[in-house]
Amino acid sequence: MLDRRSFLSASFSGTAAGLAASSLSGLAFRSSFDELLAQLEKIPPLPDHSLLDTNEDAYWAEIRKQFLIPEDVIYLNSGTVGSSPAPVLRAVFEGYETTEKMDAPDPEDYPIWGYAAWNEFRDPLAEFVGCRRDEIALLRNATEANNYIANGIDMKPGDEVLMTDQEHPGGEHPWNLKAKRYGIVVKKVTLPRPVKDSAQVLNLFNQAINPRTRVIFFSHITTFSGVVLPTKELCTLARSKGIVSAVDGAHVIGMMRLNVREIGADMYASSPHKWLLAPKGTGFLYVRDEMIDRLWNTIATEGWDDPKLRAERLQRIGSSNVPSLWGLRASVKLANDIGVDRIERRHRQSADYIFSEMMKRGAESWTSPDAALRCAIVSVNVPPIQRMDLENWMWKTQKIKIRGGDPYKLRLSTPYYLQKKDIERFLAKFDEYKSEKVL
Ligand SMILES: Cc1ncc(COP(=O)(O)O)c(C=O)c1O
Repeated sequence: MLDRRSFLSASFSGTAAGLAASSLSGLAFRSSFDELLAQLEKIPPLPDHSLLDTNEDAYWAEIRKQFLIPEDVIYLNSGTVGSSPAPVLRAVFEGYETTEKMDAPDPEDYPIWGYAAWNEFRDPLAEFVGCRRDEIALLRNATEANNYIANGIDMKPGDEVLMTDQEHPGGEHPWNLKAKRYGIVVKKVTLPRPVKDSAQVLNLFNQAINPRTRVIFFSHITTFSGVVLPTKELCTLARSKGIVSAVDGAHVIGMMRLNVREIGADMYASSPHKWLLAPKGTGFLYVRDEMIDRLWNTIATEGWDDPKLRAERLQRIGSSNVPSLWGLRASVKLANDIGVDRIERRHRQSADYIFSEMMKRGAESWTSPDAALRCAIVSVNVPPIQRMDLENWMWKTQKIKIRGGDPYKLRLSTPYYLQKKDIERFLAKFDEYKSEKVL
């Protein structure tokens, strides 16, 4: 276990380089680092699971204490990046404490291996997302995984990839690069705002597929509107036509139950730092076993051409930040300890509440009216309120962090540690802004 004194004395110098912002002097770093460890020490243990059955609100209020987010701050932007709670941070520090001593029993064992199976980290993750260890490569984020997909698939000039008009730049641009460099063609379906039901999306894809379509690429949950697309059905459609399916699932892990094999995707990219609350710089790429041999490496080092390595071949990227994987493993454990279904239910309840309250306030929904096609992201259009003005006001004067898109869109994320009173405070402040600054 992390012990503050031993951590500081054993690994302060080695870890400082990795953890400190480069602009901090050694002294300033020591005091802020001291402060961080002191704060972590004060965080209570996780609440007893039985509290979930007897007093659910009290359970989530206890869970809120696991985060370094100050008590008076309301964080409604897990959609961009999650906040890692104490068990995850402690695991990262333990990772440093253990590895930076350079005293592993095996003389060939170093803490930087970017040439290893990392099964101790892949196994729990693979189980969590419903696949085999050999089908998962640990990467740094969904952007990287999306690039591995686009770079790795053989396509000829004129071959088409079909995507939606709501892809994140980290999903779309790898294909734009391939188009510019190799002459493939990027085609898009325009998703309705909001998507009414699954059939609408399936029809759009079905109509847009043509004999040149080689790949369909889409977000399981889009960054733009938070709509949950009918991913299993889209993958089935692709398979029935001999088309490769590649899914950007940046938001899904940790937000809702995920089983990549059941979905049937050929490839699935994700960013556990968002909703699973893992350390930043942890991501993964799932490649269905039957597909692995068709995907070229983007980064080549020892083992790049060894098919026996299966997906491990794709995670060999040279020296890497292994302690972040300790944090990733802890974030999987935390989600399992709380219970993925409980988490998903909580996410849905909070999002449904904020959604219905925003509807009462006359907002236009860009997330689906079908509750099954929403989870923990609500996207609403609120003209004439300029979202950046509101975003600035909310953060700078009210300590509420939201995000959106110009000119009038708000994207509200509801992580499970958010309390009902937090949502009510946001709504009251929204009303205040609207009445005082706009109308
Ligand atoms: C759908 C989607 N894909 C990819 C990304 C990029 O995530 P990352 O920066 O972790 O690679 C995001 C980020 O918001 C996203 O929403």
